Order: sequence, then structure tokens, then C-alpha cells
Amino acid sequence: MKVTVSLIKADIGGWPGHSTVHPALKERAKELLEKAKKKETIIDYYVTGCGDDLQLLMTHTKGEDSEVIHKLAWDVFYDATKIAKELKLYGAGQDLLKDAFSGNLKGMGPGFAEMEIEERKSEPIIAFMMDKTEPGAFNLPLFRTFADPFNTAGLVIDPSMHNGFVFEVWDIMKHKKVELKTPEKLYDLLALIGAKSRYVIKRIYPAPGSKNDGKGPAAVVSTEKLYQIAGEYVGKDDPVALVRAQSGFPALGEVLEPWAFPHLVSGWMRGSHNGPIMPVAERNAKPTRFDGPPRVMALGFQLAEGKLIGPVDLFDDPAFDETRRKAAEIAEYMRRHGPFEPHRLPMEEMEYTTLPDVMKKLRRKFKKL
Ligand code: F6R
Ligand code: MG
Ligand code: MG
Repeated sequence: MKVTVSLIKADIGGWPGHSTVHPALKERAKELLEKAKKKETIIDYYVTGCGDDLQLLMTHTKGEDSEVIHKLAWDVFYDATKIAKELKLYGAGQDLLKDAFSGNLKGMGPGFAEMEIEERKSEPIIAFMMDKTEPGAFNLPLFRTFADPFNTAGLVIDPSMHNGFVFEVWDIMKHKKVELKTPEKLYDLLALIGAKSRYVIKRIYPAPGSKNDGKGPAAVVSTEKLYQIAGEYVGKDDPVALVRAQSGFPALGEVLEPWAFPHLVSGWMRGSHNGPIMPVAERNAKPTRFDGPPRVMALGFQLAEGKLIGPVDLFDDPAFDETRRKAAEIAEYMRRHGPFEPHRLPMEEMEYTTLPDVMKKLRRKFKKL
């Protein structure tokens, strides 16, 4: 059976500040998606929050970029924004950058990761959600899961994965894409995705001829850049991703393993700082310290004819306690730099924050050397 999984998110108001989603917004979203489920527009759904982002996970048979599904998500965000405004939540309606829906969510503010797949005999899928960071934050962990044999044992010892994977990488500045197959193009791939603010992994496919070839992508990441749409700083992109596991894809544990390392990502306070990404349980996806540190949560499901059997809160595990402790320690170390790089982002990346407004005033005071 062909199923589409759509994970669509937007920050439509924080509670308080930019920290979490108010329960009333989630309740409203659930009501509306329950209605859509009764009308059979969608098969199933799960609503949650990650930091200040409202998250709608939906399954359906309408394919990727479906006008019906995108409009449904837009309507949910639009409707819940009314509540956000009543409660005077912070930044109510922030990510709804256009006044009215026009066919597709592209360029409208909300972020989305969607995959149309052939649902296998058994289909484990993981929904990753991040707050206070950008899409490139997925580069390192996804690379390790799908291309690093020191992370993923299956790349070495499972014949169905031995042929590797194809990475679709987007240049989000020049709006171009390239496909690179691993292991052959491993170094080329790293040359690009190491520059994570520009080159981002959009999709990963099984290698041609391998077990899951033709059954849809193995992973997909939301790559919407808010500042590019709005033309000014409106918060970081707070990306999401969907990853399939097992039987020719990396095992669940191989998908989760890279997150044991709290790598540095950009975002955090005012979208202007480098800091560690902290894997947390759903209930702890609540960035507080210096509006962070950036968080990632992972919800696991089994698909059953499009039904979402789950979630299992995958980072709600003492096995990740040490990672969280390490992340807290790195956060402390980075914070001690205050406004200095490399805690603060380099100038090129600060272009998309509120710093240029400060610089404008200063510029006039400069004298020639
Ligand atoms: C980062 C983020 C927050 C805000 C910060 C200032 O993505 O959302 O760190 O940038 O709280 O917010 P304003 O300018 O709305 O007061
Ligand atoms: Mg916000
Ligand atoms: Mg956010």
C-alpha cells in the first residue's frame, strides 16, 4: 500500500516567550485533525509540540505536496492562531507569513517533511523534531546513520545495505540540488554537508538495486529557510525529519546512535549562537536556558495501513542521560564566551539576524584609515 507521511510544523505563538506550545493550541489542532480523520481526508495523525513549534504528523494517500493536506495544515495553524491571539501568546501567528493559502505551503512559513512510501511488511518510522536551530543540524547525524560504518554496523555486515545510499543535497543559497551516492562519493558529500548552513541533506534513498529500491525515500528533512521567505529575521527554522528503519534501512538503534553525541548547531538565543543539540523526551522539549540549548526529540511509530502505532518517546531513555549531561557541560562552556565568536555566529550568518540593524548605525561613525 502507498502511504504518504507528512510532518508539518509552525511556530504560531509561544508560552511563555519562545519556550513551549500552549496546550489549548494542541487541543484545537487535535479537534480539527480528528474531524479530517472522520472525513477520511487523512488516515491518522499525532499532534505535539517541540519548543514553541506546533507539530502535525499526518498519514494519508494524497502524495507529497498535496494541496488538500497543505491546506488542512494551514487551516489548523490559522485557526489555532486565533486562540494564540486571544491568550496573547508570544509571537502569535509568527510563522504564517502570508495572508491566505495559495495551493501549497512552500514559501508560506510552516516547515514540512513529507515522504510517499510503499508501506513494507513492517514499517518502523521515526519523526525527529528540533527547536532553536536550522535544517543543517540534521547533516551530521543523518550522514552518520546512512554513511558512516563506525556508526552503522549494517553498512558493513548487512548485504541489503552494503550498496549504500543516495543523498540528495540542496544548496539553499543558490537553490540547486545534487545527488551523491555513498560510499563512492563519501568525500564529495562531506565537502558539501560540512558547510551545514548552506548545503543540507534533503532526502536519502536506498541505492539502486538494493532491497528497498523503489519503495520511497529512507529519510527526508524540512529545508524551509524562514529568513529567505520573510526577507528578515523571524526565528530559526526549527526543522523536522522523517526516517525509516530496519530491513535494509539502518536499524532503529543505528538511527538513534549518532544523537549520543551533542554536536554543535547554530541557532539558540536569537538564532545567533552555536551550541550543543540536546536529545530530550517530548516533555522536556522546552528550551529555557538562554532560550535553549537547542533540542531534538524523536518519536517512534510503526505504520499499519497508514495508522500511526505509537508514539514511543525514544530519547526518554537513561541511555541518553550522559549525552544530556555532556550537552549541559558544553552549553556552559559556550555560554562563557558571551558575545564572542565562535559562540556567536560568524558575521556572514549574522546577516540574517537583527545585528545588521545595529551595524547600520555604527557604520556612519567609521573614519577612513
Ligand atoms: C530563537 C528565538 C528566540 C528569540 C529571542 C528574542 O530562534 O526564537 O531566542 O530570538 O527570545 O525574541 P524577540 O526578539 O521576539 O524578543
Ligand atoms: Mg517562537
Ligand atoms: Mg521554534
